[in-house]
Amino acid sequence: MKEYQDILDRAFEAMENAYAPYSNYHVGACVLTKDNKYFMGANIENASYGLTNCAERNAIFQAYSNGYRKKDIEAIAIVSEGKTLATPCGACRQVLVELLEKHTPIVLSNHKIEKVTNIQDLLPMSFTEEDLK
Ligand code: THU
Repeated sequence: MKEYQDILDRAFEAMENAYAPYSNYHVGACVLTKDNKYFMGANIENASYGLTNCAERNAIFQAYSNGYRKKDIEAIAIVSEGKTLATPCGACRQVLVELLEKHTPIVLSNHKIEKVTNIQDLLPMSFTEEDLK
């Protein structure tokens, strides 16, 4: 996907920094902002497994930690290894539905398969901040 090659390349680079001694499954992510900044993340595991942080959460938290908000985000790439394309886990979908706009491109790749989706398609009928009003 030419249009997204830059964030895919950076996400694959970030994947090399994955700390995944338990699953040995490496994931990388890259958020591109509308003013052309890149924020990368990789999955970071823990011996207390539930404390593992996924790559896409690390990348989007980096963007938010640097002052960016959903309106400022152009796209996010999430890349993995293996035969199948990793799509965000349930916990990450809940985080992304709050921190991304509904139709912001989520670009997935494992080098063999590539797909562009968005959080509206990945998490329909979600519980959000709107419900708390
Ligand atoms: N993982 C991610 O980082 N992102 C995903 O979208 C799927 C799963 C990580 C969590 C864990 O470190 C490893 O992949 C296996 O579940």
